[in-house]
Amino acid sequence: MKTRITELFGIQYPIIQGGMQWVGRAEMAAAVSNAGGLGMLTALTQPTPEALRQEIARCREMTDKPFGVNITILPTSTPPPYEEYAQVIIDSGVKIVETAGRNPQAFIPGFHAHGIKVIHKCTSVRFALKAEAIGCDAVSVDGFECAGHPGEDDVTNLILLPVAAAKLSIPMVASGGIGNGQQMAAAFALGAEGVNMGTRFVATQEAPVHEAVKRRMVEATERDTTLIFRSLNNTGRVINNDIARQVLEIEARPGDTDFSEIQPLVAGNRGRERVIEQGATDDGLMWGGMVVGLINDIPTCAELIERMVAEARETVRQNLIALS
Ligand SMILES: Cc1cc2nc3c(=O)[nH]c(=O)nc-3n(C[C@H](O)[C@H](O)[C@H](O)COP(=O)(O)O)c2cc1C
Repeated sequence: MKTRITELFGIQYPIIQGGMQWVGRAEMAAAVSNAGGLGMLTALTQPTPEALRQEIARCREMTDKPFGVNITILPTSTPPPYEEYAQVIIDSGVKIVETAGRNPQAFIPGFHAHGIKVIHKCTSVRFALKAEAIGCDAVSVDGFECAGHPGEDDVTNLILLPVAAAKLSIPMVASGGIGNGQQMAAAFALGAEGVNMGTRFVATQEAPVHEAVKRRMVEATERDTTLIFRSLNNTGRVINNDIARQVLEIEARPGDTDFSEIQPLVAGNRGRERVIEQGATDDGLMWGGMVVGLINDIPTCAELIERMVAEARETVRQNLIALS
């Protein structure tokens, strides 16, 4: 499976694990990279740049394959020290960065000066073209189906991917809603040269989350996600649990949403402690996408990736042959 994405990142299969807050730790990234995909540490999961330095070292002990680091540039009044996190990535010799959120332009020259390839994850064609214009090496295009922040346009990948592919020159990775090889084949048919997954990788043996989180993803159907923070223009797709419903109730009240009312419900540390570590899947935000409807087991990353590759090939032979 040779594409511009496998060539760019030096990986066997064009399957990427996107940055995931609290999940994108060394165990996760190394498992994906060892299986022939591209694992990604999540910079802001580490409380300090120094902790990220140690996590990168830990990941290196677990794999000799390429892995990347995600930097999510958040719209926040008290930003983390992004420059210092970026410097740690450079100093540690990591050669792949996934940026997400706000415009990563300020970081690109520094990364490129050190031979670091940058893939920017974005949710619209205009942002993808902007990423290309500022020198990103590739883009991940995240459709409305995705976990996390799908943006405010509500365009699903069946439309978003081919529109973006027709306009982009740099390679494009399809992200959002993908969990099996049939979908991977479909994404390639729409112009992608790789796929990026979040939710599907949470329900794997190696994902460093409580078993109850993985089981909940297996039990959930495609109707079990919801969109929060719409009233704040910062839409997030999460599993429709008790906390999400409380947030939606507050957002539905007349007038502007007061974030201070929502804050204790959605606090990142609450999600980490209650959901990810303790498995109380209704007591904090649980990020997840519509692909939960296709998740029926908890394989190892190697089993998942090998199965996807086999399914994709089978799809081309069995389902797409009639079109040739
Ligand atoms: C638990 C979880 C946490 C996530 N955290 C982040 C994050 O911190 N930064 C980011 O850029 N994307 C984050 N994402 C989004 C993923 O990187 C990816 O773009 C998305 O999950 C793709 O959609 P899918 O879940 O349908 O595969 C997160 C996704 C999940 C499931």
